[in-house]
Amino acid sequence: MSISLSRLDPSGADRSGLIEFFTSNGFPFHVHSAPWTVDKVADMIASGAFRNDDNDSFWILDDDLGAVGYVRLEDLNDDTPLFDLRLSTEFRGRGLGVGCLSALTDHVFETKDAERFEGHTRADNIAMRSVFLRAGWSKEAHYRRAWPVEGHSPQDSVAYAILREEWASGVSVDVHWHDFP
Ligand SMILES: CC(C)(COP(=O)(O)OP(=O)(O)OC[C@H]1O[C@@H](n2cnc3c(N)ncnc32)[C@H](O)[C@@H]1OP(=O)(O)O)[C@@H](O)C(=O)NCCC(=O)NCCS
Repeated sequence: MSISLSRLDPSGADRSGLIEFFTSNGFPFHVHSAPWTVDKVADMIASGAFRNDDNDSFWILDDDLGAVGYVRLEDLNDDTPLFDLRLSTEFRGRGLGVGCLSALTDHVFETKDAERFEGHTRADNIAMRSVFLRAGWSKEAHYRRAWPVEGHSPQDSVAYAILREEWASGVSVDVHWHDFP
């Protein structure tokens, strides 16, 4: 299995693909969990949310399976970029997540100056949390009741990150959880 990223042209060649992807998949751990409407995807494309100065989006390609998902890099002008990773429903739970996150991490540290790369998810998104850990990321924060859930009480939110130094060396740097003297 080899994973690569293919940069999206949201308002050109990839417009119909984006509409198909977001209207045909649900995202149970995102704030908006239902498949999107065509209008919402169109509005997002028009707003530049998929590609502008601060955001860039890619299809995730598997050598054997083809396009397995989508990822958006966010806050690209900040010191710490973030991401939004979504596999198509049919490719979830098949062990692809670590390769996807590793390819994304390689891309960020190989093409950007960032010293850190960060991701947030809902605390009960065990698949994503497992992927973070298996890809060598460290948990840096736990926000209580910070993740809005439509029609339900907010869930906890967690943040993971990887340092350029960790990516380059393969060795984790301590998070200093118990630093208070
Ligand atoms: C989150 C996501 C990227 C994980 O990738 P994946 O390829 O599906 O994950 P994997 O198949 O490698 O599974 C990772 C681990 O979670 C476990 N797992 C998978 N689905 C699970 C589920 N629904 N509930 C509990 N555990 C689950 C797997 O057994 C595996 O455990 P292990 O690390 O002990 O082997 C993918 O499921 C996805 O795109 N989900 C929808 C969008 C999303 O939630 N994105 C995250 C927001 S950034």
